[in-house]
Amino acid sequence: MKTILAFALIFMTSPSFSQQKSFKPGAIWPDDNGVHINAHGGGILNFKGLYYWYGEHKIEGKKGNSAMVGVHCYSSKDLYNWKDEGIALKVSDDTSSLIKKGCVIERPKVIYNKKSKKFVMWFHHELKGKGYSAAMTGVAVSDKATGPYTWLKSVNPNSGTWPMNFTTEQKAMRFTEKLKDWSEEWKTAVKQGLFIQRDFTKGQMARDMTLYVDDNGKAYHINASEENLTLHISELNDDFTDFSGRYVTVAPAGHNEAPSLFKKDGKYFMITSGCTGWAPNAARLMSADSIMGEWSYLGNPCRGDKAEITYNSQSTFILQVPKKKGQFIFMADRWVPENAIDGRYIWLPIQFDAKGIPFLEWKDEWKY
Ligand code: DGJ
Repeated sequence: MKTILAFALIFMTSPSFSQQKSFKPGAIWPDDNGVHINAHGGGILNFKGLYYWYGEHKIEGKKGNSAMVGVHCYSSKDLYNWKDEGIALKVSDDTSSLIKKGCVIERPKVIYNKKSKKFVMWFHHELKGKGYSAAMTGVAVSDKATGPYTWLKSVNPNSGTWPMNFTTEQKAMRFTEKLKDWSEEWKTAVKQGLFIQRDFTKGQMARDMTLYVDDNGKAYHINASEENLTLHISELNDDFTDFSGRYVTVAPAGHNEAPSLFKKDGKYFMITSGCTGWAPNAARLMSADSIMGEWSYLGNPCRGDKAEITYNSQSTFILQVPKKKGQFIFMADRWVPENAIDGRYIWLPIQFDAKGIPFLEWKDEWKY
């Protein structure tokens, strides 16, 4: 009898069986097996009434940030309760593969292409043993949202192509003088295209990234480029597996990472972070009337305690909740580099002031 009671108690209190009815930013977030969700730097795809959350599968310990497993996928009907769907993109055991175990796979995002009927995943990709120097973006496809995804290639995008917002003068400039990093002359040169020119033939650097599909079906790859100094917004081709060649530079020499983007009432908003490794810093808000710019800087969207460190987190994605017009969820990571698997998720509602400018406030618990 005692044993039955003990089992019943475990059954009733086990997190795997307790339905979650709210968001609790920063808390352990159990999946359907009662295991803390392992999908860091993630993004969400909404497809046929289900949400799919893709993110970096981290492992325990200091080395937990390198890709030893791959991209983890979860599914949900309500955004509170998530079913473990396993590893959508696996790292390779083949030591000659670029996506071999031990490389870096960060910030994976998935979009659906209606024409090809394929799910397309892009991710920041660094090569094993090369730190963050490769600065590539990788693309993988699948017939199913949950995978398995087949890796197609990793590239330094837009090789041999000038940004659309570059002037004839910028294209003609040559940077021969060695300038001191962070000097005013160097910043001016960066704004004028120092790194675009350096990487023109090889292709541009691509680090922190996100994807955005606009109402007209066009998809965009938004990433930190030029040694993390300037953001690039690039249009993808029709099947979303390549770059179309149309791209712009945003906030040159502004040192932005972690781009996340949404559109409300025809206006585009982007929330980014500064560049301080795994340590948090103040978020930045920008807005534009067209995705290809001009983007204007609107300041830190966070209010209240810990606003200067984004409540100890860094942006990764902004989700528009369908059927809840105007409901946008800011998704961010509270990184734990000393034990990467313990990283927490900070999801907060985006609020709007009287002028329609987005802002964020901390919430211990909330519902959408
Ligand atoms: C900050 C980035 O946003 C993360 O995705 C990761 O690349 C770390 N830097 C690495 O230090």
